[in-house]
Amino acid sequence: MNRMKTPRARRAILYVPGNETRKIEKAVTLGADSVCLDLEDGVAPNRKAEARETIARALRTLAFGASEKLSRINGVGTGFELDDLEALVPARPDGIVVPKVNDAEELRWVSARVREIESRAQIAPGSIALLGMIESARGLVNAVAIANADARVEALIFGAEDYAADVGATRTREGLEVLYARSAVVAACAAADIQAIDLLYLDFRDADGLRAETRRGAQLGYVGTQVIHPNQVPLVQEIFTPDDAAIAAAQRIVDAAAEYLAQGRGAFALDHKMVDMPIIKAAERVLARARAAGKIAME
Ligand code: COA
Ligand code: MG
Repeated sequence: MNRMKTPRARRAILYVPGNETRKIEKAVTLGADSVCLDLEDGVAPNRKAEARETIARALRTLAFGASEKLSRINGVGTGFELDDLEALVPARPDGIVVPKVNDAEELRWVSARVREIESRAQIAPGSIALLGMIESARGLVNAVAIANADARVEALIFGAEDYAADVGATRTREGLEVLYARSAVVAACAAADIQAIDLLYLDFRDADGLRAETRRGAQLGYVGTQVIHPNQVPLVQEIFTPDDAAIAAAQRIVDAAAEYLAQGRGAFALDHKMVDMPIIKAAERVLARARAAGKIAME
């Protein structure tokens, strides 16, 4: 039967301010699925130029191991974005994070600029991915179009603090004020068959709080989250990795489904519970996550 495609795991995207060499050197040693060298809100306006150079050098010279090389540019319309792209793209990041995306046109504009610079730098066209951040009311209402904006778009990332500020919500521990948006981003991503990356937990000394918040995101359908501190990386990566029992249960469902579907049966019983397409799809998703996390062999 058809297997779900296996995108690369992005269970933790670790941000590092783009002008802090010491942290950048540390970030690439931590086993994070993705390391994101930041040019946006983690860097003061008078340090942007220096950060561009530091990031380009890091992308060219540091060994990232298995970590994805991401960098976050400044938003489209800030006046920084073109210089950011000119500095980054020739240094061949795996992907570019675009913050505060308000509509699909912004990502298409970034994609076209990346294409031009790729071609000048003789980089294979389309090899650099885009991850768009939804963190405004306009971004949220346009999320479906943004998720489908361009073939490069592999994920949307939910930015809860900026979103709350934009709509006038007050952030609380319970997070009900961002639940609608948090869920809407997951739905937009699922509709476009791309990844959904969850909000950032700011209190980096609070492991229990991070665990609870990350589990909630995983329950909503997120496959990864944003982190800002080394301690957060292993904790969230574990939560987004299916455990052995979940993998075994999913494998049983998928194996049984293959047999029953071959016999022309769409619904069947397994352990006294009905299994049909949505259950099979959920099991396929568990296996896809386990494969992406390297817990079971790739196809
Ligand atoms: N990436 C890599 N290393 C990091 C790191 C990060 N994001 N955050 C902290 N570290 C390092 C520190 O440099 C320190 O290393 P050292 O022991 O070799 O000196 C070690 O981890 C412990 O750091 P700690 O003292 O606990 O944290 P801090 O008080 O120095 O820093 C923050 C706290 C929040 C300022 C820091 O974690 C940070 O800069 N995070 C990223 C912020 C960011 O990028 N924001 C924008 C995107 S949302
Ligand atoms: Mg933000």
